[in-house]
Amino acid sequence: MTARVRKAVFPVGGLGTRFLPATKALPKEMLPVVDKPLIHYAVEEARAAGIEEFIFVTGKGKSAIEDHFDHSNELEAMLRSRGKEEAAASLRSWLPAPGKVAYTRQQEPLGLGHAIWCARHFIGDEPFAVLLPDDIFLADVPCLKQMVDAYSGRGGMVAAEVIDGPDISSYGVLDISGEEGPVVRVRSLVEKPSQAAAPSNYAVVGRYIMTPRVFEYLDRQEKGAGGEIQLTDALSWLASVEEFSGIKIAGERFDCGTRGGYLRANIAFGLQREDLRDELVEYIRGLDLGA
Ligand code: G1P
Repeated sequence: MTARVRKAVFPVGGLGTRFLPATKALPKEMLPVVDKPLIHYAVEEARAAGIEEFIFVTGKGKSAIEDHFDHSNELEAMLRSRGKEEAAASLRSWLPAPGKVAYTRQQEPLGLGHAIWCARHFIGDEPFAVLLPDDIFLADVPCLKQMVDAYSGRGGMVAAEVIDGPDISSYGVLDISGEEGPVVRVRSLVEKPSQAAAPSNYAVVGRYIMTPRVFEYLDRQEKGAGGEIQLTDALSWLASVEEFSGIKIAGERFDCGTRGGYLRANIAFGLQREDLRDELVEYIRGLDLGA
C-alpha cells in the first residue's frame, strides 16, 4: 500500500435546503465566497496538499459542478475575441488534468458514510482524503496540507477544532486517549452527541484521511444517528482496528453550511483581497451598528 495521499473524495450530493431559494436550481457547492464557488476552494486546498485524483460523489441537479471543472470553449473564445487572453488562460490553469477527475452519483441520500462508500471503486489500496466543501479555511498552511504533513502513512486522521458549549452537538466528536502538540490520539468517535454525552470538546471538521479499510465497515450499511449511514461510525470502528488521530488545525474555519458562517466567510475572504479590502473596510467602518 502506498502511504502517500493521492486521491480525494468530495461528497457533493447534499440538497442545501438552508440556502433556498438560492439552491433551488444551483448546487450549494457552487455558492460563491467572493468570486469562487465553495467547491473550488476545496479542490484548490486538495491540490495544495498534493492530491492528484479528484472524485466527486454527486446527485441530481449537480451538473454545474462538472461544467465548472471542464473546459468552456465558448467562454474562452469569447474572452479571446475581446482581447482578454489572460482571463481565458486563467480559466484553464486550475482544471484537473485529463482523466484525473471522476464523478459518481449517490442515488439516494442515505448519509455521508454512504456517499463515501459510493466512491469505493475509485480508491483501490491506498489512503485517501475526504473534503466536505461546506467547511473552508483561512490558514497560512492549507488545512489538508497540515494533515498530510503530519500523517504517518498509516491509519486515519481527522481535522479537529475545539468547540465549547452546546454547538458541540452539531459535530462528530472525538474520544481521546492522549495529546502531543496539535495531535490527539483518538479512541473512538461519536456523531452529534448531546452536550452532556460529548466525550470531549474536540469536534471533527470537514477534512479526513482514511484507509480503504473504512469500506469494510461501510459495506455493512449500518444506520446510525438520524437513521443515516454515518461516516463517523465507520471511523470509530476504524479507530478500534488501526491507529487514528486528530489534528488541531491552525487557522480559521468557516462553516458555509450555515447562512451566518457563509456571510462571515464572504467578509473574511473579501478582506483578504487587495482589490476589495479598502472598499470593504470603508463600508464596514461607516456602518451604523447601533448600541
Ligand atoms: C458532518 C459530519 C460531522 C462533522 C461535520 C463537519 O456533519 O457528519 O461528523 O463534524 O460534517 O462539518 P454535517 O455538517 O453534514 O451535519
